[in-house]
Amino acid sequence: MNNIDSVGHATGKSVYLDDIPVLKNTLYGVVYDSPLPHATVTNLDVTAAQSLPGVERVFTWRDIPGINDIGGIIPDEPLFASDEVHYIGQPVALVVAADEHTARRALGLIKIETVELEVITDPREAQEKGLLLIPSRTFRMGDVSAAWSECAYIFEGTASTGGQEHLYLETQGAYASPSENGSVKIHSSTQGPTLVQKVAARVLGIPMNRVEVEVTRLGGAFGGKEDQATATAVMAALASHILNRPVKISLHRLDDIRMTGKRHPYSSDFRIGLTEEYKIKAYSAVMFQNGGAAADLSPAIMERTLFHSTNAYFIPNTEVTVHSCKTNLPPNTAFRGFGAPQGMFVIEAAIAKAAAELEVPAYLIQQANFLSEGDEFQYGQVAESVNIGRCFDDLDKKFGIEKIEKEISEFNKRDPFRRKGMAMMPVCFGLSFTNTSMNQARALVHIYQDGSIGISTGAVEMGQGVNTKLAQVAAMIFSVNINRIKLESTNTTRVANTSPTAASSGTDLNGHALHNACTVLLKRLKSTAATIHECSIEEIEILNEKVVINGLATETDWEKLVQNAFLKRVSLTENGHYFTPEIYFDKSKEKGHPFAYHVYGTAAVTVTLDCLRGTYRVDDVLIVHDFGNSLNTAIDLGQVEGGVMQGIGWMTMEEVVFNDGGKLLSNTLSTYKVPDIYSAPGRVVCYALETAGPDLAILRSKAVGEPPFMYGIGAFFALCNAIKSFKPELKTDFDAPLTPEKVLMSLYNH
Ligand code: MTE
Ligand code: HPA
Ligand code: MOS
Repeated sequence: MNNIDSVGHATGKSVYLDDIPVLKNTLYGVVYDSPLPHATVTNLDVTAAQSLPGVERVFTWRDIPGINDIGGIIPDEPLFASDEVHYIGQPVALVVAADEHTARRALGLIKIETVELEVITDPREAQEKGLLLIPSRTFRMGDVSAAWSECAYIFEGTASTGGQEHLYLETQGAYASPSENGSVKIHSSTQGPTLVQKVAARVLGIPMNRVEVEVTRLGGAFGGKEDQATATAVMAALASHILNRPVKISLHRLDDIRMTGKRHPYSSDFRIGLTEEYKIKAYSAVMFQNGGAAADLSPAIMERTLFHSTNAYFIPNTEVTVHSCKTNLPPNTAFRGFGAPQGMFVIEAAIAKAAAELEVPAYLIQQANFLSEGDEFQYGQVAESVNIGRCFDDLDKKFGIEKIEKEISEFNKRDPFRRKGMAMMPVCFGLSFTNTSMNQARALVHIYQDGSIGISTGAVEMGQGVNTKLAQVAAMIFSVNINRIKLESTNTTRVANTSPTAASSGTDLNGHALHNACTVLLKRLKSTAATIHECSIEEIEILNEKVVINGLATETDWEKLVQNAFLKRVSLTENGHYFTPEIYFDKSKEKGHPFAYHVYGTAAVTVTLDCLRGTYRVDDVLIVHDFGNSLNTAIDLGQVEGGVMQGIGWMTMEEVVFNDGGKLLSNTLSTYKVPDIYSAPGRVVCYALETAGPDLAILRSKAVGEPPFMYGIGAFFALCNAIKSFKPELKTDFDAPLTPEKVLMSLYNH
């Protein structure tokens, strides 16, 4: 089964926000953003900009009819800055003009007068000064302080990971137009149509039923449009609502990179204690999350870091604290993995440190501590259907870890200036939004009189293939040709109160809702068939577009059946609702059962390092991944490959750099290096673990969007091992990304 969008994408016919035909009298908006990282605004003068010919109006906070706040979780973020600015890139005003060029010219005429305030960009410094976005949280299990005395070995260290630019191909954008009776329609490139609707209603001071949000598809999102598509959409809606004209905003790449938040950088201190047998007895960590100037999704991301701080290991005594620190940077946001990669990096660094000190391969420590059936996570959930050991063993069977190690060590003895390194990266990722109430979805299914089917859900297609998988679900249940099925756009008037398409749960949640709707419709159709053929409903099956009675095909095909049902006045429309059963979480105890299930997998990553130049390449990424019973192996493999590449980029080359004044230095693709075809691994081989898959995954096909990202972390530790083989005395610090520049420095600078 191909992706249903493949032809559209390949021929350029797929419609993105900027392809929507513009209406007559459309105006164009360009954002004026703060040139300063932290300051009191004493005067903002937009009169010169306002009077430039072609400029329709300049909007500031004073023009907001409702509430000047767009905070998704906490109301701490104005749409437009008023008396203070908190980061370079913070929206201050919106210029709306007859064309974008004029609007951009007008930006230069806006005058801002300010008094500069202290700038903090470092999360540890922020924490020391008490600048936290939300109260800190700690997850505990066992008794860490008592456990240290039982450890044969204790190691300490620091680990840090950098930011990451989402670099969705389609930048943030929105196109709003007025409708009757004070309503507004917003085409938005968002993962969260309901969030856009809710915040637009709040800012405009109108009820949610006056705001319609429409999403066709996104040209990539990766978490960057879960919360941060809202500002653009609401600005377009505000201008459109007030001017009673269509208003379009489509950010330039430079504006997008400067103004939007990225993956959260983390800086952490860890302590790990092991027994003689390399059992991890105790683990503690304190993590400083660089949240930027507003909370955005930081509280939820902090939570997912805590949930994943022990990755795929059972550690009886743990204590992990995360501080969400307020700095004068753009608010950092969701990015594939949602805080889990940052948490996992620290435990992997701790294991790597222990391995280096004990002079054993890290995988021996990893393997000695894998979760087993019935083990408790530090958040109280009991691990079920644990597949981490199986993934690791399968990988070993298929590729031979010792054999790889041996080849590497022989190469390293032989080669005068190149070194190879290998690292294993196990992954255990929890599926479900960590906020239980978000785990719900709805699907609206129409069967039309000609037998064709239209499906609306809350899921947003962003390249991950959710629409194809949803079409497959419906086609399987009705047993019809997939060509009969059309996935409609995502629209808040058809499917309301949606969660964002995120947490890798888009297919599970919307797929289950769809499953429910289709099952009800199928039952109605079977009942119609039973009436036509004068038999009982239990005898009826619909198979390959035919009504089948007790295994024998009748002359009633799908189209006839549907027509018949319509004439009999049977409803051919159904709305399915789903909520994930069994899950809950008690924040007062930090215990519960937050995840429907876990996704497991293991990767072996090998690299070759050129020790003269500090350059390297990733040779192999060998994976055994637990897909469950995959609905679509082509799409799932695509998710693995994309995730792996994005993870390797984060760990080895993508370096988000701000100066101490909060100015983004890596603000273009000439100063921010993303993986390209030349940095692709020599081989990515992914085998599927043979499993039935859990009940709570849609048709037992496990969610796949985020987990593979974390295989990329293996590249970091593989490089560390290659460096160590060249310079054994080196005490590695765990400071990602490990760019060629840093590698070269570490090879010769000590
Ligand atoms: N794949 C593509 N091609 N584009 C994307 O933007 N986003 C990722 C992942 N895979 C993304 C992607 C992220 S961050 C998530 S949470 C999931 O897809 C969301 O989709 P799902 O819930 O349907 O898996
Ligand atoms: N994952 C991704 N996005 C989210 C989550 C989560 O757990 N919670 C809120 N938004
Ligand atoms: Mo994905 S970071 O949950 O959008």
